[in-house]
Amino acid sequence: DRVAPLNTFWHAGKVTAERRSAHFGHAPATVWLTGLSGAGKSTIAYELDKMLHDEGRSSYVLDGDNLRHHLNRDLGFSPADRKENIRRTAEVAKMMNEAGLMVIAAFISPFREDRAMAAAIIGASEFIEVYVSTPTEVCEARDPKGLYAKARAGEIPAFTGVSSPYEVPLMPALVLDSGVMSLEDASRALYQHLALRFRSR
Ligand code: PPS
Repeated sequence: DRVAPLNTFWHAGKVTAERRSAHFGHAPATVWLTGLSGAGKSTIAYELDKMLHDEGRSSYVLDGDNLRHHLNRDLGFSPADRKENIRRTAEVAKMMNEAGLMVIAAFISPFREDRAMAAAIIGASEFIEVYVSTPTEVCEARDPKGLYAKARAGEIPAFTGVSSPYEVPLMPALVLDSGVMSLEDASRALYQHLALRFRSR
């Protein structure tokens, strides 16, 4: 359903999505964790990843901070660069879903429009938006990387929640506030939400 760039052609594969799903024991999905820096997105993502693997499922974490070390290392934090960051990531998540994996994406992804783009790329039935709603004050009090202090001192331009906006999701599938929920409870709630996609084996 996408327009082919000039002189390029699409090759269809021979392994069906159904066969891959049967192999992995689950229908693929992308859990998209959005929220402020320090909200707990990565911590929840890696805990969920571990829970899935402990249960014999197959998943992989795409983490914003990590992808900025390689695939997205040419991007900064302007709105245009954040959009490109989300676009590339969504394309990778889509391929991983097509390969049959559960994907857990942890990105601030502060703009609704960009998250809607990710949902459109990944597919509405695979995309699960999860809002890690930990409030700014809690994230700033934690400040695990010292970034809020730097941002307040004017050393980081366009820092989300300080000098760049965060647009709250309007209809997330799940809301997790790591300020009031333990890591275990938040990850378990997410795991149970995902378990609806498991096949019995
Ligand atoms: S985005 O908005 O989705 O493109 O951001 P993302 O790729 O998730 O990267 C967020 C991490 O980058 C660090 N960082 C910043 N965050 C927000 N604003 C500014 N200006 C900024 N500069 C650097 C920060 O470590 C973020 O990591 P997390 O894990 O969210 O704390």
